[in-house]
Amino acid sequence: MKVTIVGAGNVGATCADVISYRQIASEVVLLDIKEGFAEGKALDIMQCATTTGFTTKVSGTTGDYSKTANSDVVVITSGIPRKPGMTREELIGINAGIVKSVADSILEYSPDAIIVVVSNPMDTMTYLAHKSLGLPKNRIIGMGGALDSSRFKTYLSLALNRPSNDIQGMVIGGHGDTTMIPLTRLATYNGLPVSNFLSAEALEKVAADTMVGGATLTKLLGTSAWYAPGASVAYLVDSILNDRKRIIPCSVYLNGEYGQKDICIGVPVIIGKSGVEEIVDINLNDQEKSLFEASAAKVREMNDALNEVLK
Ligand code: NAI
Ligand code: 2OP
Repeated sequence: MKVTIVGAGNVGATCADVISYRQIASEVVLLDIKEGFAEGKALDIMQCATTTGFTTKVSGTTGDYSKTANSDVVVITSGIPRKPGMTREELIGINAGIVKSVADSILEYSPDAIIVVVSNPMDTMTYLAHKSLGLPKNRIIGMGGALDSSRFKTYLSLALNRPSNDIQGMVIGGHGDTTMIPLTRLATYNGLPVSNFLSAEALEKVAADTMVGGATLTKLLGTSAWYAPGASVAYLVDSILNDRKRIIPCSVYLNGEYGQKDICIGVPVIIGKSGVEEIVDINLNDQEKSLFEASAAKVREMNDALNEVLK
């Protein structure tokens, strides 16, 4: 099984590292436009094999898409972060150009690949991929909910003072500070609702911390996070390649599900060897439904900005 990761920066290289270390794929190709960068990252990761004991083959290339041929999954992390003074439209314009040209080049050599979009603004970049590539909707998946859910479970485990592996929970909606929806009502600790153990105030704080989870790290690190994002992508890729059928909140194209049409936004989906195998309806209550509608309206604003720059 072969995975290509476009963008050998912080998130892309971490993802390659986790996929190799856990032997999720037999081959990983890193591709970047910065001369020698992907080759260097790949060589560094390969040199871990003898000490950590994996057999995944990792290679890098500067822009040669022929090396990515016949990939089963392609992860797109290429893009630039928003810089001071840059408008949202300018960022969307630049990243849309990158995501579109990368996806076109990828499909030339791997026409059957499942595409995982990571570049921000992720829901809008996933929507762009849907609109511009014309692939079946099961083959384009935006990663954001897996990461936001891992932050949610981490904050729950800290509040409960219990191991995070014993906690289940998910975050749906857009991948943004004001659009994500941590579903505290459905979160459990060993099968019991977390509300049995935490006060309403404590749960509100967990939700608020989750929503600014990315921004908190950006403030601490001076750039956006990469360990949990890279590991979250690897978790998603594992569910595709190894047909694990995990339920993972992902940004997928909705055609009436959750009351929304013509939008990519985070909802729980079963992820297996065909990519998106099923959109799971979790019967949101009225409050969650209205939060979801508000989240979709904000994601649509970003999509409108994309449509403006594409005109
Ligand atoms: P980074 O700057 O470390 O890496 C990006 C890499 O993309 C650079 O090495 C750059 O040379 C490369 N690149 C740019 N244009 C390219 C092209 N046309 N072809 C190939 N490579 C190209 O950035 P980082 O931290 O890895 O983040 C990558 C993206 O992922 C950003 O848009 C970031 O906002 C987003 N992100 C999304 C998350 C999510 O949950 N969806 C989580 C974390 C980051
Ligand atoms: C994150 O959530 C910025 O999308 C990035 O860390």
